[in-house]
Amino acid sequence: MPRPIHALIDLSALKHNLSIVRKHTQNARIMAVIKANAYGHGLLSTAHALRAADAFAVLELDAAVRLREAGVYQPILLLEGFFSAADLTVIKQYHLSTVIHHQEQLAMLFTAKQKNKINVFLKINTGMNRLGFAPEQGLAVLETLRVNSLISQITLMTHFACADDPFQKDEVNQQLSDFFTVFRKHHLPCSLANSAAILRYPETHADWVRPGIMLYGASPLIDKTAAELGLRPVMTVSSKIIAIQHLTTRDKVGYGGQFQAEQPMRIGVVACGYADGYPRHAPTGTPVLVNGQRTRIVGRISMDMLTVDLTKIQNANIGSPVILWGNKLPIEEVAKSAGTISYELFCALSSRVKILTVTNENQ
Ligand SMILES: Cc1ncc(COP(=O)(O)O)c(C=O)c1O
Repeated sequence: MPRPIHALIDLSALKHNLSIVRKHTQNARIMAVIKANAYGHGLLSTAHALRAADAFAVLELDAAVRLREAGVYQPILLLEGFFSAADLTVIKQYHLSTVIHHQEQLAMLFTAKQKNKINVFLKINTGMNRLGFAPEQGLAVLETLRVNSLISQITLMTHFACADDPFQKDEVNQQLSDFFTVFRKHHLPCSLANSAAILRYPETHADWVRPGIMLYGASPLIDKTAAELGLRPVMTVSSKIIAIQHLTTRDKVGYGGQFQAEQPMRIGVVACGYADGYPRHAPTGTPVLVNGQRTRIVGRISMDMLTVDLTKIQNANIGSPVILWGNKLPIEEVAKSAGTISYELFCALSSRVKILTVTNENQ
């Protein structure tokens, strides 16, 4: 029998969350962001569940090829574009769209031997200062792309740094204004909004929105829960109690003996550790569900195990089900306790954790 840990992926929750995006963005088309193995949820099953999306975005060329070979017919955008001329050959062969964000890519594009046309998303840096051309520089690049016969559709794009935070509205407005001041008159399709901007700033929706985290049922906003936004969790990571320990006062638990019992306690050992993707820095007190009841992690997380307080959960025993995050235990709560964000927990799920898919239509 395999170790009892697994991640259950609720495909109907993915569809539901896509419908929430649609509700917020009636006129924009939806490009579902499924990079990093669909934020750890499984690339192909996620793309299949989200087949009503208008396009997909990934970073990894091999993921884009897998999507095409699995029959995905919608546009597929490479969010960092290409890294070599050889990538361009694959992009053209599989009819992929590409971001262009620096001059070297332009040079590769214009010296490519192939004659097939290509769709490009011209990335404009409006303040994130990661990828993209400054607006005025982007304007010059736009002119060279427009007269190039190898380019078919041009879409203008930027990315917000602070849309999740209600106190950083000015930052978003500045990015928006820097973008549209230069590009509004060009009447080209535009793509700006990630999940947070979709929910908080309708004025950013434009032609294409790019939701990621909200599709997976986690809140992109620091001041609202997923449930308040009508989102349903897609991933539930579950395991079981595999051992029970009875502590007397002053007994310690785990590596470093960091947790010490102040009274007699019952401790459950759970088959889940940092090699499964559970954050090692989650402190004592991080929430967890055992037999559906809320309790806390105690002591250090080890590679393959963690320990939970069962003192008040009398009916818990070896084999009792444990939920690490997901259904009835929002991932944001676990992430906050561990000093991280839901994105990191999703993406860190280890390949040794089996992914099972389920469809819960009637939730
Ligand atoms: C360029 C770009 N657009 C959209 C997204 C989706 O963002 P979110 O998951 O916050 O919706 C990402 C994710 O990092 C991104 O890099």
